Amino acid sequence: MKKLFVLLLSLVMVFSMVACGGSNEASETTTEAKDEAVKIGVTIYKFDDNFMSFVRRAIGTAAEGSAELILNDSNNSQATQNDQVDMMISKGVKSLAINLVDPQAAPTIITKAEQAGLPVIFFNKEPEASVLKSYDKAWYVGTASSEAGIIQGEMIAEMWKANPEWDRNGDGVLNYVLMKGEPGHPDAEARTKYAVDVVKEAGIEMNELELQTGMWDSVKGKELMDAWLAKHGDEIEFVICNNDGMALGAIESLKGNGYFGDGTYMPVVGVDAIPDALEQIKSNYMAGTVLNDAKNQGKATFELAYNVAMGKEPLEGTDWELDGNKAVRVPYVAVTIDNIDFAEEAYK
Ligand code: BGC
Repeated sequence: MKKLFVLLLSLVMVFSMVACGGSNEASETTTEAKDEAVKIGVTIYKFDDNFMSFVRRAIGTAAEGSAELILNDSNNSQATQNDQVDMMISKGVKSLAINLVDPQAAPTIITKAEQAGLPVIFFNKEPEASVLKSYDKAWYVGTASSEAGIIQGEMIAEMWKANPEWDRNGDGVLNYVLMKGEPGHPDAEARTKYAVDVVKEAGIEMNELELQTGMWDSVKGKELMDAWLAKHGDEIEFVICNNDGMALGAIESLKGNGYFGDGTYMPVVGVDAIPDALEQIKSNYMAGTVLNDAKNQGKATFELAYNVAMGKEPLEGTDWELDGNKAVRVPYVAVTIDNIDFAEEAYK
């Protein structure tokens, strides 16, 4: 009887060990399933870019539950980004989503992708059309760069006409300073050109007091504005910025230099409609901005990268369209105090 009891006990023990083993296996299978989730390699030119942090967030949100992202901060170095691409390829990614550091480096990335047989979605910094066309598995997600400049120019012209007191010296000429984004960046080049061209086309005479790059950055924007105010003072009648980051720096400088008190308003316009800029519009420190739809650009980047990683057509199951340059272009929208709610929604 005792022997039988011992036998039964050992059987129970063996059985429970097997059961335990089973459960270990089960958890491994779960991990394997997770490991099997398609891997997508993403680079951001630098995490320390206000606008790109919202695009990054949107990519992450879109990926939740369907893919594993390998996300890299390229720290504003193309050499670093090139190494990151090699590393992601060796980790078995099925597609690449690349926010270039240097827009001229697209051929280098394409060569790497092509050698590994991988599709690549560039986003935010548009490669030249010929480069994109050179590889059948390359596409772009971004905007039509000129559109932001056109909208900003229309906004400036309309505001200038509606506020004759902004012409401080009453000479009928709009004296402006312009903060440009990164030289060579298609967005910076097109915004700078079109914002000014459109105002002139509206019949307004313009005089450029300063045009320099603030590299999309608010600290640099403040430094530039400090220097320009010291040099030109009240001669400046309009501050045109290629993005909100620099506009926020300009506003900080203007506040520090006694503007926005009685009768010392200075119109400042930007592009992006990031939440901090919307706050400045609400408090009447910023005249307007142009929505650069980070949420939809991030979403589209992921959706295309995911489709091609799964061996599908880039647009399958999406509402996006490709233009003749293999690009999905998310529209820009003018933002002033009148439609601020809409812009706030776009960044939630
Ligand atoms: C945005 C900038 C941003 C840049 C980064 C532009 O489209 O307007 O705010 O710094 O992209 O490449």
